[in-house]
Amino acid sequence: MNPVSKRRVFKLHQWQRWTLGISGLALLGSGIVWAWVHWKYEHGETGESLLYLKPWMIRIHGWSASLFTLCIGSLLATHVRLAWKARIHRINGAGMLALTAWMILSGQALYYLGDEPWRSLASDWHFLSGIAFPGVLLLHIYLGRKQRAAWGRNPV
Ligand code: HEM
Ligand code: HEM
Repeated sequence: MNPVSKRRVFKLHQWQRWTLGISGLALLGSGIVWAWVHWKYEHGETGESLLYLKPWMIRIHGWSASLFTLCIGSLLATHVRLAWKARIHRINGAGMLALTAWMILSGQALYYLGDEPWRSLASDWHFLSGIAFPGVLLLHIYLGRKQRAAWGRNPV
């Protein structure tokens, strides 16, 4: 493979970038607004006037989570498979996969955990990891691009 095609090979398709970006922002925004209303209500800083927002945020969150995971599925077959085979950015990439799997599992756990202390723990950790997600992804992109550039300069 010549260096030019090597440079392009792990790039996401435009539709994948847009889908990840839009669904990711919707996940983040709806998660933060939900948590904000929840926190205000729990601490007695608001009455019931803002509570109508919570089911709307959960609807947006659920739909965008489906879109986001669909897009991750498409990355597994392209981006991840190719980078893995080329042995580039594997450790950081595995971290990305692990964090994504955690978001999906902890999100699903919120549906099924009836036991209040466990549910509340899952909710807190899901939220905290969600807040960290954009930073981790930006680091993944920055370091991945650097590694890919070094790899492109040294064709195997
Ligand atoms: C949940 C899993 C993952 C997500 C969401 C993800 C997302 C991304 C995104 C958005 C980029 C920027 C690329 C662009 O804009 O064209 C990127 C770059 C990169 N990722 Fe991943 N990635 C994931 C897993 C992995 C794994 C498992 C590996 C390695 C085995 C990997 C290796 C790389 C490399 C090498 C780059 C730099 C590519 C380039 O600029 O050409 N990624 N990733
Ligand atoms: C891969 C990304 C994500 C997936 C698959 C995901 C999935 C889910 C699921 C399935 C639920 C349960 C919805 C329900 O109770 O009906 C949920 C709830 C929630 N998510 Fe996410 N989510 C993701 C990212 C995020 C992000 C980025 C945040 C940002 C802060 C976040 C914050 C929340 C909050 C606050 C809740 C409500 C917690 C509760 O009911 O106690 N999530 N998520």
